[in-house]
Amino acid sequence: MDSPLKNGDHHGQNGVEGNDRLPKKPKVSVPITSAEIADEFAHHDPSVARINNGSFGSCPSSVLSAQSAWQRLFLRQPDQFYFDRLRPAILRSRLAIRDVISADDVEEVSIVDNATTAAAIVLQQVSWAFTEGRFDKGDAVVMLHYAYGAVKKSIHAYVRRAGGHVIEVHLPFPIKSKAEIVSEFKKALEKGRTNGRKVRLAVIDHITSMPSVVIPVKDLVRICREEGVDQVFVDAAHAIGNVEVNVKDIGADFYTSNLHKWFFCPPSIAFLYSRKSRSTDLHHPVVSHEYGNGIADESAWIGTRDYSAQLVVPEVVDFVNRFEGGIEGIRRRNHEEVMKMGEMLVDAWKTCLGAPKEMCSSMAMVGLPACLKITCEGDTMRLRRHLREKFGVEVPIYYRAPREGDNDDEASRITGYARISHQVYNVVEDYHRFRDAVNQLVSKVITCELLPDN
Ligand SMILES: Cc1ncc(COP(=O)(O)O)c(C=O)c1O
Repeated sequence: MDSPLKNGDHHGQNGVEGNDRLPKKPKVSVPITSAEIADEFAHHDPSVARINNGSFGSCPSSVLSAQSAWQRLFLRQPDQFYFDRLRPAILRSRLAIRDVISADDVEEVSIVDNATTAAAIVLQQVSWAFTEGRFDKGDAVVMLHYAYGAVKKSIHAYVRRAGGHVIEVHLPFPIKSKAEIVSEFKKALEKGRTNGRKVRLAVIDHITSMPSVVIPVKDLVRICREEGVDQVFVDAAHAIGNVEVNVKDIGADFYTSNLHKWFFCPPSIAFLYSRKSRSTDLHHPVVSHEYGNGIADESAWIGTRDYSAQLVVPEVVDFVNRFEGGIEGIRRRNHEEVMKMGEMLVDAWKTCLGAPKEMCSSMAMVGLPACLKITCEGDTMRLRRHLREKFGVEVPIYYRAPREGDNDDEASRITGYARISHQVYNVVEDYHRFRDAVNQLVSKVITCELLPDN
């Protein structure tokens, strides 16, 4: 990849002027070959079956080279970089993101470090509304029970401490249909409105992390609008590059997604979309020189640091456009492959998937044999470590506690699910290795209680 100095023209010189949108369906003259894909990910440890793209994503070497060129540019002449190069380059990335997520205006798109930071920006503003009396103490915030742990803690820190009443939407797992989620969500909103309270904020995951399920986010946002919920924040940390993201169509006030998970960016970068009418009281939690100039500018300078991961989005767009169908083609094939691999594993283990196909993304929850005796979170960590250290398989495990009302069917007996991912660098052998590792544990009657703690 050439120096970013030469590559700044995706959106006009240095990316500052152009308003043209990227073509939705790029034409690929010669699609990338398997050998080229292997080369792009040759820095991955060849001895490891990485079937956990979901946690930390992956970044091809052409993008890493572009990132490194930006780093060197900064170090070569910091003053010039800071005054002349950085802002146009961030804008260039914001324009590329605007196009991928179908936002109306680049002003609605800010770049931040990660989804956790985006959540802090949104929740901080809710916290001020409580402390400044615009929201009444006891007004409700609704979130999914399966919201990401760090985001739950942020809700506690920013909202509960400021006087908000937090209501969790309980979701069944394994799950059979979107209707189950819609029904539970409506119940939670109703609960939120009891005793004259108002529901001030709904935090909705687009794809829950653990267990991983695609949430009917557009339906839930519509319900929020019908029911008069003040603000809707979609935590879509896993979404861009994994499922379709059209922020206008989804209709939330705030929407964040990491680009370092499924969009091939280096760690770390996320975008925060905020509808124009909603942006006024948003501030970055790290206050710096741009305070008060709008969340996009505030986020573009939060003190001296390495901004290079934020500058390579156009190079990532170049990378995904080497694949048939661009990012849409990638996610469609990943979804098909992960479902195939999931089916192969449940057939081998006589278990079942945790969600129907239409509720899976490029990740699927695969039931593990009950005879592994996964009985607590600690067991999942021990098993995860064992699979990594003894079999070279990286995969996260979810513990599903037995519930009241469980019967003796196959699904109720399963207490552990593996979250498998599929990304362009994966091969069938990665999943065969996982299958064979579990089969070996089963045949040797190794249960989780026999695994070492670390
Ligand atoms: C649903 C969800 N929200 C938020 C996050 C936090 O992402 P990050 O650690 O990049 O801030 C994650 C990370 O996996 C996630 O799955």
